[in-house]
Amino acid sequence: MYALRLLPLARPAHRVLSPHHATRSLSARASRVLSALDLPTDGSLIPGMYDGQWGGSGAVQKSICPATGEVIGQVQTANVEETQRAIQATKGASILLRRMPGPQRGEVMRQIREALGAKTAALGDLVSLEMGKIRSEGKGEVQEFVDICDYATGLSRSMAGRVLPSERPEHVIYEIPNPLGVVGILSAFNFPVAVYGWNLAIAMITGNSTIWKPSPTTPLCAIAVTRLIQPVLERNGLPGAVAALVCGDVAVGKEIVGSSDVDMVSFTGSEKIGKEVGKVVQDRFGKALLELGGNNAVIVDKDADLQMALQAVIFAAVGTAGQRCTSTRRLYLHRSISAQFISMLLKYYDSASSQTTLKAGDPLDDASLIGPLHTSGAVKLYEDALAGIQKRGGKVLTKRSGKMDVGMGGNFVWPTIVRPTNDDPCWTTETFAPILSVAEFDTLEEAIHLNNAVPQGLSASLFTTNIQSMGKWLGPEGADCGIVNINVGTSGAEIGAGFGGNKSTGWGRESGGDAWKQYVRWSAATVNYSSKMPLAQGVSFGV
Ligand code: UN1
Repeated sequence: MYALRLLPLARPAHRVLSPHHATRSLSARASRVLSALDLPTDGSLIPGMYDGQWGGSGAVQKSICPATGEVIGQVQTANVEETQRAIQATKGASILLRRMPGPQRGEVMRQIREALGAKTAALGDLVSLEMGKIRSEGKGEVQEFVDICDYATGLSRSMAGRVLPSERPEHVIYEIPNPLGVVGILSAFNFPVAVYGWNLAIAMITGNSTIWKPSPTTPLCAIAVTRLIQPVLERNGLPGAVAALVCGDVAVGKEIVGSSDVDMVSFTGSEKIGKEVGKVVQDRFGKALLELGGNNAVIVDKDADLQMALQAVIFAAVGTAGQRCTSTRRLYLHRSISAQFISMLLKYYDSASSQTTLKAGDPLDDASLIGPLHTSGAVKLYEDALAGIQKRGGKVLTKRSGKMDVGMGGNFVWPTIVRPTNDDPCWTTETFAPILSVAEFDTLEEAIHLNNAVPQGLSASLFTTNIQSMGKWLGPEGADCGIVNINVGTSGAEIGAGFGGNKSTGWGRESGGDAWKQYVRWSAATVNYSSKMPLAQGVSFGV
């Protein structure tokens, strides 16, 4: 049980930077979460780099709790030189890892899964504290990591190549997957644990070592996860640089992206940065896996179950305070149900407060459904987006919008529904905040056109009970996204399928499905077991 509302609200911590002068001014709320994972609560500097040894002598990164503004930890990051060293250590580790049989790597993965499983609640709480998502989503995110470990353990015995018929007698063709070497993982603040997990699990099982640069605003999650993995690697005689960590700023990220010793870069983040990352990796003929912006639509057709659609839209648009790549940002309603559905939605949106069912408040309070935005910068983006929509003739439909006071400081905002003008630029841009834009349509074809008429292509959902509409939605004239759902919201995908988006979302696929096939180098191998040397296509070359 939590009595957090009774605790004194967090004050800005006035701690001294030097570990020698550490003080104990951290709130009880943050201390409880950090100490459950053996993270310091006395303000001392935490080493933010691991390549077998913990270290780091770069700039200090402060981790700030988005719900209170409190500094909850100070991390000493890696500098450029240290990043280069870590890349070399990771490269060295990859040689050992690729020699290890796949199922043995699977056993290591199983042990990582156990280590995470034992700390799911504690790590989930750290996600809530540092990122700001609510408790059940924080825990769900760690569960997603656990799930992909299970998947990867199975994959370690089943990642099959192929045997193909050759046109030549007594020949056979194999398609063989082998490890790439080093995978660089650059992850975003909004899934500070799970997205790393997807990449680590699949990269490791396919025989690659990894070097992780987490978001500069969620270093504690990265350190806590790495500390759980470290003893598993040690126990199995593997070097720590099999799963290296370099907390750092842009310079650290650039070092990884630009290094020809990093065979693949898996980047999650904005379209703008992703475009740069893609170009740099392409320029050196590396492999890039991009998971960029989403601008996801829900279509509610005339024959939809409105109650189901309502629940799905509220979770996907309001949940995580609109900060998932998969959050619903656009809602297209059939004209015949539009007014009714908007009033159903408004009943919830307008009741959001720190007191009611749609409760906004401390993400660590089990009753909260709405947490804060991650940074004060995100609040500004939210405010600017709303101001722009209104200036260009759009309307705010919810009673409230703007900053929300839940009595603990922090970056809380009102989830907001807007009706922008039809040609408003907001329709084609991702704003990482709980703003839901609505518009009407008359035919499914028109709705599909609206869904597809944006640069991004991550996730889309159709609510319908009509089997013809379902077929159309999934077919060649249907939604053009990487995730195309029916009667399920745009967010909250399971790990079983590949995760990722088309078009400006970057075409990458992570997590389950066939995503592992990107983490290997494929070779087609033709083997001749005859005593002749025939050529393919019947070519004769008389020697
Ligand atoms: C992201 O927002 O970057 O489908 C990942 C979902 C989660 C993952 C989101 N399983 O919403």
